Amino acid sequence: MSDDIFSGKKIILGITGCIAAYKITFLIRELIKRGAEVKVVMTPSAAEFITPLTLSTLSKHEVIINAFPKSQKDGTDFSTWHIDYAVWADLMIIAPCTVNTAAKIAHGFADNALTTLVSALRCPLLISPAADVDMYENKITQQNIKKLEENGYYILQAEEGELASGLSGRGRFPEIEKIIDAAELILSGYNKDLKTKKILVTAGPTYEDIDPVRFIGNRSSGKMGFEIAKAAFLRGANVTVISGPVKEKIYPEIKLIKIRSAAEMKKAVEMQLKENDILIMSAAVADYMPSTISTKKIKKEDKLTSIKLKETSDILASLEKKDKIVVGFALETDNEIKNASKKLVAKNLDMIVLNSLKDKKSGFEVDTNKITIINKIGKQTRFPLLSKFQAANKILSEIVKIKNQ
Ligand code: CTP
Repeated sequence: MSDDIFSGKKIILGITGCIAAYKITFLIRELIKRGAEVKVVMTPSAAEFITPLTLSTLSKHEVIINAFPKSQKDGTDFSTWHIDYAVWADLMIIAPCTVNTAAKIAHGFADNALTTLVSALRCPLLISPAADVDMYENKITQQNIKKLEENGYYILQAEEGELASGLSGRGRFPEIEKIIDAAELILSGYNKDLKTKKILVTAGPTYEDIDPVRFIGNRSSGKMGFEIAKAAFLRGANVTVISGPVKEKIYPEIKLIKIRSAAEMKKAVEMQLKENDILIMSAAVADYMPSTISTKKIKKEDKLTSIKLKETSDILASLEKKDKIVVGFALETDNEIKNASKKLVAKNLDMIVLNSLKDKKSGFEVDTNKITIINKIGKQTRFPLLSKFQAANKILSEIVKIKNQ
């Protein structure tokens, strides 16, 4: 997309001495692919893990390691480089950030090129700390990370899992896509405004079985729901996803409950809603299911010419919604606003998100969507064609408004 938020953005990438530093080449490539300009600043110990030559080749800029660098071109001093960089940048990302660098920044040290630059920074700073489990869980490290967050820096907490040492626990560096998502979130002006909120999201299609090999399904890819879940997580919420069969991946911190049929989804939603404050029902739930499911594969010689159907139960309509914010979706082809508004009232929702199928780049199996949000008092907000991640953030911001009303 030409209107990618990264297009023309100036990003400083700070790299510190952690084994995960080798993954940063992919981050640089992705940022540049999406239109950003990237300059790298690294600590001397980061250069033990990845060569400055690799990073300068990828970023097409000289890499700064020394606090008193000399230009590789003509040997001149970059005396005020740290101020020039600080003024230049739209965003700085420190990934991976060692416990040592986290500690230094938390205490205002400016003792190398990277920490000196941070002390002069004007733009937002995204910090992705990573370390072995004991170093990460160390009380002082945790206090430092907390302090960094309290001071307005965006912290992308390390994940739990297998670590380079062979140990297992918290400290794992996240996938590059997650750092990109967090960077996009920050560049779009969002922060962790959903902290303390518990959000339940449904996604994908439901499959209604006909026999052991066949089913009735729909074309929902689950993308919209998964992007809502990711955006909500990055904005600080505790997120659970109930999803039909999809290929989409989700962050490991998000609880994923896999279901298959509308009946299974209903059961899961009823169970999980008790634990959550907000339900966003983006799943494309089947309205009909076969009246009977054949236990044996239906054979050609059975000469089946029709399948008897019965209605599934409407999950949204039947839910007990007291003290919950409930958001529905409507996918329409005709009389869009009228039909969506009808569903908002009939299902007693706080808000409904209308998906347009009129635009080719909107709807199923694509990364973009054109949505209109209708709230309880009938106010309509139309959005242009957006990436599903950007659309997800618009939906979440409208929910924040309900919460504040
Ligand atoms: N929905 C639900 N349970 C169903 C069907 C739909 O909870 N059995 C939810 C969807 O997840 C969505 C909203 O209801 O949030 C509207 O879904 P949609 O399929 O557009 O509406 P329907 O009520 O099924 O009406 P129709 O298919 O006739 O347009």
